[in-house]
Amino acid sequence: MRVCVIGTGYVGLVTGVCLAHTGHHVICVDNNEEKVKLMKAGQSPIFEPGLSELMQSTYQNGLLEFTTDIAAGVQHGEILFIAVGTPPLPTGESDTRYVEAVARGIGANLNDGYKVIVNKSTVPIGSGDWVRMIVMDGIAERQKVLVGAGGVEAAVQKIAAEFDVVSNPEFLREGSAVYDTFNPDRIVLGSNNQKAIDLMKQLYTPIIDRKYAENPSLPPVPVVETDINSAEMIKYAANAFLATKISFINEVANICDRVGADVTQVAKGIGLDSRIGGKFLQAGIGWGGSCFPKDVSALVHTAKDYNYTAELLEAAVKVNQRQRLIAVDKLQQELKILKGKSVGLLGLTFKPDTDDMRDAPALNIIEELNRLGMKVKAYDPIVSQTGLRHGLSGVIVETDPERLADGCDALVLVTEWDQFRTLDYAKMAKLMNHAVIIDGRNFLNPKEIEAAGFRYVGIGR
Ligand code: NAI
Repeated sequence: MRVCVIGTGYVGLVTGVCLAHTGHHVICVDNNEEKVKLMKAGQSPIFEPGLSELMQSTYQNGLLEFTTDIAAGVQHGEILFIAVGTPPLPTGESDTRYVEAVARGIGANLNDGYKVIVNKSTVPIGSGDWVRMIVMDGIAERQKVLVGAGGVEAAVQKIAAEFDVVSNPEFLREGSAVYDTFNPDRIVLGSNNQKAIDLMKQLYTPIIDRKYAENPSLPPVPVVETDINSAEMIKYAANAFLATKISFINEVANICDRVGADVTQVAKGIGLDSRIGGKFLQAGIGWGGSCFPKDVSALVHTAKDYNYTAELLEAAVKVNQRQRLIAVDKLQQELKILKGKSVGLLGLTFKPDTDDMRDAPALNIIEELNRLGMKVKAYDPIVSQTGLRHGLSGVIVETDPERLADGCDALVLVTEWDQFRTLDYAKMAKLMNHAVIIDGRNFLNPKEIEAAGFRYVGIGR
């Protein structure tokens, strides 16, 4: 099928590349010229395991194209994905201006024939009808131009442009986005027109049939066919649930710290209950990234718009804000005076295997440590390689873990990168003024770390 994906960030690029890999002809549109130039040169603007390789192969076989020209993309595609960002506004609402610009651009460039416009971006509930309205506005503006230019015939033809809007929320995780696209737990399709749903199912057939899955013998991927509002709500409810689950275990961890229990054992013990499940029960310094914080806040805000206070979700956010600074509290307990001391952060990104720093807990931790007069250094496998391109301030980014440890009074493990399991901790301990490590992700083996000469402090253990 002919596909257009507008917005080539973590979601759009992965979606475009993976759909091209399954045999569709995909044009990816982005208004960032630098990004498009980079992608045309065969380079991925983001770090995501496996993405570069797939991108290069699909680009070379002609199934994937990149452009800044939205008209070319819209006219090519029977399926048009909107995959631009919906960042948070200071109020907590989603900023939908990029979605609006794209919907207007789609309307202004629609050609003949039936098209499905897909909201892949996470958009506030009710955005399906809103996008339809904006697209219609875009069509109307274009018609005015055509009639003004004397092209009545073309303008009349334009009215024949037919489309439906589908909500198809994305559940991929940064760090395993390609894997998740080919191995989804479910595909959600919300529309009021079966024809649109059927076309989407056709698009996803290779994925539904697990043609590219790790385990192709599993039954087909479940497809949830529903109305648009429910599809939009599913995305928010899923993220709100996962975020709340983490805040829950963090709260339990804080109680464990006080009563002398070990939260890792508690999580194991409750996670084996199939009603609870063992995932998302790792206590630590809280959730971050480009999705959980903004999506939970947006849902709280939507509830408010409809005169409802989402007490549980507000509490989950509050617990998370406090949790981000728990590593600082623990540093204080260990070092007493923090002013004038040096701390080394192991990891900066909000989770491993990504280069995404959006709303990463590290940012709050750095700010607070600076405020308390500490010198902050960091080593992160990705950020250290790519330099300071995220505009970090208040932190010296070191090129290797030993340079990080040198002269530090404590280390804080912020991101659970796999390579942090096997660092030469004994050597690092010798380079430090005080060999203390705050394990903000309960990631390390306390016995091994203590044997290497460190004092080990976890979260709730
Ligand atoms: P992103 O910020 O990485 O990428 C957005 C892209 O859209 C950028 O490349 C930007 O240049 C482009 N763009 C903005 N305005 C444009 C326009 N008018 N025309 C063409 N391109 C334009 O965003 P990301 O992280 O991919 O998120 C996209 C959406 O997907 C958001 O709504 C997000 O909430 C949702 N989502 C994100 C996930 C993630 O893990 N990042 C997971 C699931 C959903």
